[in-house]
Amino acid sequence: MKTFIQLVIVGYFYVFSFSSFNQVKCADFDENFLFGVATSAYQVEGGWNEDGKGENIWDYITHKTNLIMDNSTGDIACDSYHKFKEDVFLLKSLGVKFYRFSISWSRLLPNGTAPNGIWSANPYAVEYYKQLIDELIANNIIPMVTLYHFDMPLPMAQYGGFQNERIVRDFENYADVVFKLYGHKVKHWFTINEPNSCCEIDVLMASVLQTEYVGNHGLIYMCTRNLLLAHASVYRLYQKKYKWKYYGNVALVIDSNYFQAGSDCDDDLKAAERYRQFMIGKWGHPIYIGDFPSVMKEYVANASRAQGLTTSKLPVFTEKEVNLIRGTNDYYAMNYYTSRLVFFNDTLNEDSLQSDAQVFVTVDPKWKQSPTQPLIYVVPEAIRKSLRFIRDEYRNPTIMVTENGYGDKGEFDDRDRINYFNDHLKQMVLSMNEDNVKIIGYTAWSFMDNFEWTNGYLSKFGLYSVDFNSSARPRYEKDSAVYYRKLIETKTIPDLDDNSENRC
Ligand code: NOJ
Repeated sequence: MKTFIQLVIVGYFYVFSFSSFNQVKCADFDENFLFGVATSAYQVEGGWNEDGKGENIWDYITHKTNLIMDNSTGDIACDSYHKFKEDVFLLKSLGVKFYRFSISWSRLLPNGTAPNGIWSANPYAVEYYKQLIDELIANNIIPMVTLYHFDMPLPMAQYGGFQNERIVRDFENYADVVFKLYGHKVKHWFTINEPNSCCEIDVLMASVLQTEYVGNHGLIYMCTRNLLLAHASVYRLYQKKYKWKYYGNVALVIDSNYFQAGSDCDDDLKAAERYRQFMIGKWGHPIYIGDFPSVMKEYVANASRAQGLTTSKLPVFTEKEVNLIRGTNDYYAMNYYTSRLVFFNDTLNEDSLQSDAQVFVTVDPKWKQSPTQPLIYVVPEAIRKSLRFIRDEYRNPTIMVTENGYGDKGEFDDRDRINYFNDHLKQMVLSMNEDNVKIIGYTAWSFMDNFEWTNGYLSKFGLYSVDFNSSARPRYEKDSAVYYRKLIETKTIPDLDDNSENRC
């Protein structure tokens, strides 16, 4: 009898532990986890001058400079301005829960400004985005909308873009028009995509257009200040006028690549921590804690003094501004692509972030580099480090991974992209299960091949391929689309080396 009971207990233990083991192994993500894909307006829409769209900086760069590697333009791009129904059909067949796309500011407001509120909006653009949003909703796909994804209207760039505080009101007025038009349908808003990249583009545009700011010290810091104020003003606007009736979320999409120490020596550990504050903390600290990180204030002030300046290049926020910006993220929206190694270095003496932070930034020669996007080295374990950094710095906020992806030449059997996704997803699951990081969603960049900024069409990030030589711009599924569809279906990260169909 005793042995029988013992058997029952042991049997129960096995059944129980096996079933829970299976649960963990079979579904890495729960039912509510959001899987989606992303694009941005200039990269996919085309229709650059159709139906009254105004000119933006990428129209200008592609038409008037030779900064694009293959001399291409986004004039037609993927032609999503005309093919959005087919896009939504493919999204549906992919099984994504959401689609993250952006609104083209200069399509909606051809001059960038909205003196008459929604009456200043271009009716064709109003209709285009309405139809896109409706088509997504009709197909049960959540629209997630970015207000600004690198495509500044030319008039704003001409007055200095983010160098000029005027951008804050103009951006707020634009956002107000968008919220008024689509606020009842869209519940996920992103104000600005990748502020670090935005400020690099802002500085580039100042020199392309030879604005009055060229030659000023600390352009990146002025951009940082005004961009934060623009983001925060839009967050506050939504909070005041729309949140009570629409209950949506608003967040800044922070480029959160991870800067790790190049060695264990104290100077390098501190240098890496400092540079993380320069690159992520510059946005996260004002938003989650208040004001710029103190180490950044100290180092920029010292560097400014060494450059013979009488005031710091880092602007000072008033108390009112600190309070305006603090608390303006409903969740942490994170883009992650790559990592870098950081060493202490105080020999540079130039007007750059690395010089001000006294760091030297490099890569590990063992890291695999994207063949077409030289900035991307594949370092999956660093997404977990970045997630942990965000958890520790900002009191464990809810995180949404808003971009992650890999550039190649456009192969259909895109093994490297699949491996990239798989390895990053594994690290994310470790973060959730072992580091107690709260992640609500993951976004693959990109839905389809598109105009990759200065790389033109040489670097492809899509799950779908687009034939840019055909005027019909047909889309074709790549292996990574098949992979992603299965991942979404099973909520399980496959073991890519194991060919057995069902590992559970
Ligand atoms: C991040 C940007 O948001 C996106 O526009 C770009 O295409 C990808 N990085 C890949 O470089």
